[in-house]
Amino acid sequence: MERTKIYQLFNTAVPQTQVLIKGWVRTRRDSKTFSFLEINDGSSLKSMQVIADTSLANYPEVKKITTGSAVAVLGELVKSPGKGQAWEIKAECIELIGLAPESYPLQKKRHSDEFLRTIAHLRPRTNKYGAAFRIRSELSFAIHNFFKERGFRYIHTPILTGSDCEGAGELFQVTTLDLQNCPVRDEHVDYSRDFFGKEANLTVSGQLAVEMFALSLGDVYTFGPTFRAENSNTTRHAAEFWMIEPEMSFCDNEGNMDLGEALIKYLITYIFDHCPEDLQLFGKFVDKTLLATLETIAASDFIRIPYREAIDILEKCSKEFEYEVAFGKDLQSEHERYLAEIHFKKPVAIYDYPKTIKPFYMRQNADGETVAAMDILVPRVGEIIGGSQREERFDMLEARIEEAGLEKENYWWYLDSRKYGSVPHSGFGLGFERMLMLVTGISNIRDVIPFPRTPKAIEF
Ligand code: 4AD
Ligand code: MG
Repeated sequence: MERTKIYQLFNTAVPQTQVLIKGWVRTRRDSKTFSFLEINDGSSLKSMQVIADTSLANYPEVKKITTGSAVAVLGELVKSPGKGQAWEIKAECIELIGLAPESYPLQKKRHSDEFLRTIAHLRPRTNKYGAAFRIRSELSFAIHNFFKERGFRYIHTPILTGSDCEGAGELFQVTTLDLQNCPVRDEHVDYSRDFFGKEANLTVSGQLAVEMFALSLGDVYTFGPTFRAENSNTTRHAAEFWMIEPEMSFCDNEGNMDLGEALIKYLITYIFDHCPEDLQLFGKFVDKTLLATLETIAASDFIRIPYREAIDILEKCSKEFEYEVAFGKDLQSEHERYLAEIHFKKPVAIYDYPKTIKPFYMRQNADGETVAAMDILVPRVGEIIGGSQREERFDMLEARIEEAGLEKENYWWYLDSRKYGSVPHSGFGLGFERMLMLVTGISNIRDVIPFPRTPKAIEF
């Protein structure tokens, strides 16, 4: 007999004489004449209650089943007389598939997020993390749907690269050289003897590569893992995170902001429609204001202001910030959150940043001082999107690469694209984990990614 997933059973309207479920035991309670087992198979938040009668052939064995054990249950699906669940199963046969000894760390009680991080291999078996990772899965599909509905093509950009897109030097180097015994030439490491014959690293962004495809296929996006050796131990930075990067030809920064706003709203609405139960859990146990916040974001127009105006607001406000606010200084998380959470109480797109604090590829504005950048900030998370219109003018781009102190030879192909039919184009990066933090109310990035990588932490 084939097993049925528990979520399917909760969707049925009629009783069934025989069903087979397989999953893990959350709890077992015994009375004189029977035992209650709560089984969860990960297919939904809901667990199935199983009634095991003393008349079961292996009842003595059933009474030894512990929390965390894996079981198969064959039985009748009946309307539950008890409160809290619509259906339950009257067991005809319970098979113990894998016993979990008493040392199983997820006994029925609330565990702290910090503790659960130390058992990241088991935490998806809890309600909260099961819900978070089901939402993570749904959100990935939502992203592909959004772009497919709009005629975007999905491009797989490389993970191993020879360039530094953000120019911030936060690269993880990739090498097959023996670090104990590096080949040296003229007192420097001789990379011509390395695997690729030159320095290589893990990508910090697929943008440069995906731009080439925007300039041929039109509207494209990439969605993959990116890596940053940022040594900042914050709740919003991971060394390995996933990014969604759309890129559009014949599109200016205004159109770019339109797309970013539409994407965030679409994703929120999608999760309301596709994960109502899991979302409720976060609204109940993680952040009581979550659902209201999400509804506001999905329904309201985002604010759009130039960087200069944002600085103005921050300078005039009465709040004391840890980091200085001044034209030419980057906005810190505390500033971003003040703007989105307290001042406007909704998402804000900030555009036209000073060129000195932004990467080389952003298009210079006529004022010579700012670039057509745009960041979207949301309540509780701060920056969720970073993007820009791209510098499509060859000479300007070349000058910026030089100014940024980057090796021009590594960017020859990128510059080439500005030689042959160059067009205005724009794109952005949406941090996938930050989007998940927004949707779930989870406040630490370590808790929305299966096995987080952060400074000094790569246990799993
Ligand atoms: O603003 P960023 O650095 O922009 C870029 O990488 C551009 N090349 C994207 C593009 O235009 N195609 O990063 C984009 C977003 C940020 O807004 C943030 O949400 C997320 O990526 N992000 C991180 N998320 C988690 N951990 C980190 N260390 C992150 N760094 C950036
Ligand atoms: Mg950014």
